[in-house]
Amino acid sequence: MKGLGCHKGSSSLASLCVSRWGVLFSHPKDYTPVCTTELGRAARLAGEFQKRNVKMIALSIDSVEDHLGWSKDINSYNGEPASTTLPFPIIADDKRELAIQLGMLDPDERDKDGIPLTARCVFIVGPDKRLKLSILYPATTGRNFDEILRVIDSLQLTAQKRVATPVDWKPGDRCMVLPNIPEEEAKALFPDGVFTKDLPSGKKYLRYTPQP
Ligand code: BEZ
Repeated sequence: MKGLGCHKGSSSLASLCVSRWGVLFSHPKDYTPVCTTELGRAARLAGEFQKRNVKMIALSIDSVEDHLGWSKDINSYNGEPASTTLPFPIIADDKRELAIQLGMLDPDERDKDGIPLTARCVFIVGPDKRLKLSILYPATTGRNFDEILRVIDSLQLTAQKRVATPVDWKPGDRCMVLPNIPEEEAKALFPDGVFTKDLPSGKKYLRYTPQP
């Protein structure tokens, strides 16, 4: 997928572009209910992202001052002391500069002045600074952070091993052998076995292997 350029002057975004993975997730507005539940959940899952070497960065189109006040609410929603500190930064994109640059604005959701709000974008960036996955949710649908961790597990596995992950895959489940690997090479690559499902077409493309 295309590269996500580093944004000069944004030290947060620039740090996405070093050697780690990164996830950038945008929010329509500070002090809104769904966003508060999402950031609360993201904060509670910070250790899971850290385990996977993924730097988290949120973005909302409000000011630093609003972000600090809202962070207190988010911590309080999580049953924590009302501190301004979250385990990840929130970019204060109050001029919508990044939101416009990264195509995050949702034409169907507008603020009281009729200006478009940001959709719920998820961008996952690999250590090579390239965009590996993007998911776009409308403002009215909160994200599933278990799914975000699941796709990170798949992206990291498939970056290392020559497999693909099938529908509803979870870590530890069997994987699919890539279609471009010849049979003999697949046997050598996957010593735990390659299991081919017989199909009416007679074509041997549905090949499973235990997760390498
Ligand atoms: C929310 O976070 O609850 C929200 C924000 C903008 C539009 C709809 C819902």
